[in-house]
Amino acid sequence: MKIGILSAGGDCPGINATIRGVGKAAITYGMEVVGILDGFSGLLFNDYLPLDERSLSGILTLGGTILGTSREKPFKKKEGDMIADKPQFIKQNAEKMGFDCIVCIGGNGTQKTAAQLSEMGMNVIGIPKTIDNDVWGTDVTFGFDTAVNIATEAIDRLHSTANSHKRVMVIELMGHHAGWIALYAGLAGGGDVILIPELPYNIDRVNEELLARSCKGKPYSIVVVAEGIKTGKKSDTAGAYIAEQIEKATKLETRVNVPGYTLRGGSPSPLDRIIATRMGTYAASLINKCDFGRMVAIHHNEMTSVPLAEVGGKTRLVPSDFFLIKQAKKIGTCFG
Ligand code: F6P
Repeated sequence: MKIGILSAGGDCPGINATIRGVGKAAITYGMEVVGILDGFSGLLFNDYLPLDERSLSGILTLGGTILGTSREKPFKKKEGDMIADKPQFIKQNAEKMGFDCIVCIGGNGTQKTAAQLSEMGMNVIGIPKTIDNDVWGTDVTFGFDTAVNIATEAIDRLHSTANSHKRVMVIELMGHHAGWIALYAGLAGGGDVILIPELPYNIDRVNEELLARSCKGKPYSIVVVAEGIKTGKKSDTAGAYIAEQIEKATKLETRVNVPGYTLRGGSPSPLDRIIATRMGTYAASLINKCDFGRMVAIHHNEMTSVPLAEVGGKTRLVPSDFFLIKQAKKIGTCFG
């Protein structure tokens, strides 16, 4: 068999570990492995990179993706498209290349495209990827643990400077429409206030909490904000909006920190390397059984897979009664 592997959407640590897992396992099954460059664009413009034992070695710990990525959505027409029917063109190119299966490493959008290509009759396997941890159908995605580690390190470092200046430090964390990173890093980093899109907040309650802390003699506070929370205006960024509201209402000196893309940079954490390797090798086993049209998943730490048709277009958000939220409230964390 001959397989193509692509990575699409926002990059994150662990993609190369996944490519390595799929590729090395596929080679043991006797398969030929080809990298598809820059996400689905590679299938549109026939950009390929043959992968073998040599090119797959030394990439386990490498950040980013050796294949490159893009946010090309073949089923979405956009201004200046040179190709009229992109999905049909992709199918033809895949057939010309003799691909028996395409492995799509990506987040929500990528899995939706993978499901649509599968419905067109292409053999496809999805592997969930994102720092946001918001892909429906799996308990966890690689990239998330590394992002939580980086974000927690940033929060840890804010405590000393906030204490020195007696300030409120607001940190805005990525996560798209979900609050997984802010929740986990906020708890791990000892955030006093954690605001996530899944839990509506009242800024007056946040300000009361911060003033109460100040009146109790607490020298500083840490406010952890997910980028996807509601703000005054669409153009407001979450961190800046919350900091402005706090300083205006409480007169407490407030500063904002936005780690942004550093959450997606550098080498994957050991846990993400393991998740990525498990998912990659499991994907190869599905291909070997010709069990196509599925996305690899982890349920209660067991490898499994779910139909791609069930994943497309869904987002896995933090449940409002999530156990970590309940436990955080018991130690006085304020969720607004
Ligand atoms: O999906 C990963 C992610 O980093 C989100 O957390 C963030 O909102 C988005 O990608 C940023 O997109 P881009 O990389 O296109 O700026």
